[in-house]
Amino acid sequence: MNDLVGKHIVLGLTGGIACYKAAELCRALIREGATVQVVMTAAAQQFITSVTMQALSNRTVYDSQWDVREPNNMPHINLSREADAILIAPCSADFMSKLLHGSADDLLSLLCLARPLDQVPLLVAPAMNREMWAHPATVRNVAQLRADGAVVFDVGSGDQACGESGDGRMLEAQELLDDVIAFFQPKILSGQHVLITAGPTYEAIDPVRGITNLSSGKMGFAIARAAREVGAEVTLVAGPVHLPTPRGVTRIDVTSARNMLELTLAHSRNADIFVATAAVADWRPSNAAEQKIKKNGSGTSPTLSFIENPDILATLASSQRARSGDFYCVGFAAESHELLANAQAKRLRKGIPLLVGNIGPATFGQDDNALLLVDESGATEMPRDSKITLARKLVVEIAARIAKRGSQHED
Ligand code: C5P
Repeated sequence: MNDLVGKHIVLGLTGGIACYKAAELCRALIREGATVQVVMTAAAQQFITSVTMQALSNRTVYDSQWDVREPNNMPHINLSREADAILIAPCSADFMSKLLHGSADDLLSLLCLARPLDQVPLLVAPAMNREMWAHPATVRNVAQLRADGAVVFDVGSGDQACGESGDGRMLEAQELLDDVIAFFQPKILSGQHVLITAGPTYEAIDPVRGITNLSSGKMGFAIARAAREVGAEVTLVAGPVHLPTPRGVTRIDVTSARNMLELTLAHSRNADIFVATAAVADWRPSNAAEQKIKKNGSGTSPTLSFIENPDILATLASSQRARSGDFYCVGFAAESHELLANAQAKRLRKGIPLLVGNIGPATFGQDDNALLLVDESGATEMPRDSKITLARKLVVEIAARIAKRGSQHED
């Protein structure tokens, strides 16, 4: 809840029904620790009042370049110099067109033009009818805005206020918040493809029953989010869990260990990094029934026998690419005791450069965790923290090891 501490955001509202989402976005930014200065165009004030935005941001709203509150009467300079980012949400088609032409006939467009380009990023959340979004003029404008250095966020898809359905609605407040938080993360894995397994597997006993475990998938999903935030392309192979897919992550749902192996293998071919957080079932019933096993009234119970599942991590880690150093494999070990010794032994047994130990019963289902990183040079502790914070730190550790290995290759 403090991913934006110390950040000052100028939140610009332009004319569009999505202004109602800007109210929620303003709260969300503040909840994450940002300070928010709202600036509204005249059109935005047709959709939401400055009273609402003032109350939510706890600051008076600016809407005029002639604002007498500024001693030097230069709000466009003062507001843009203070900002860590200017976020236009919603950004109408008309305002986008103004931005790229360098128009400056109202305070918001004026302060965007006046911002120091190399210090104050411009983030744009478009919002418009689907025909307007698909129009060649808008397509051109988006491309030109990006070429000019602005970050243009995606649009959502679905029902629109006008009654039509399609692309062009503004993203939801939480989605935009995630994008803003990600924007501020350094892009240390840009150009890398990260493959992650997460969650438990489900091994069928019969068509309605099966064996699984208590893994919630939260750690793997947090790593997927953290890797995406720092610029990686991320594929997340997930066992049965009830978690939302992190923004920008490609998710592949699987059930059994063999199913997970098949899809993980298929996606490993163009991956650079593999992080195996899944709690894969070590065994599956060898005699899974085709039909539901029924009670027969005799009081006898069915006998289950088991067969060992493939080890996904060991399989990928033994590939030619992994052994030659082109595919960096990271394992997890959920232990109940003697974490260091077990983690060190497991790293060697799996043949991987980095193994992350955690205490299983203390982490399954929780929002926080504590990690122990074990590699060839020793062990590093990451004390208890939220899973997303630990995931971000782990991603930094992985990126540093890959960069080091890259420089050793060059020597
Ligand atoms: O041997 P153990 O199950 O403790 O190893 C844990 C590590 O190996 C985790 O990274 C887990 O995702 C991975 N693993 C796997 N396939 C298995 C068993 C474990 O990928 N069948």
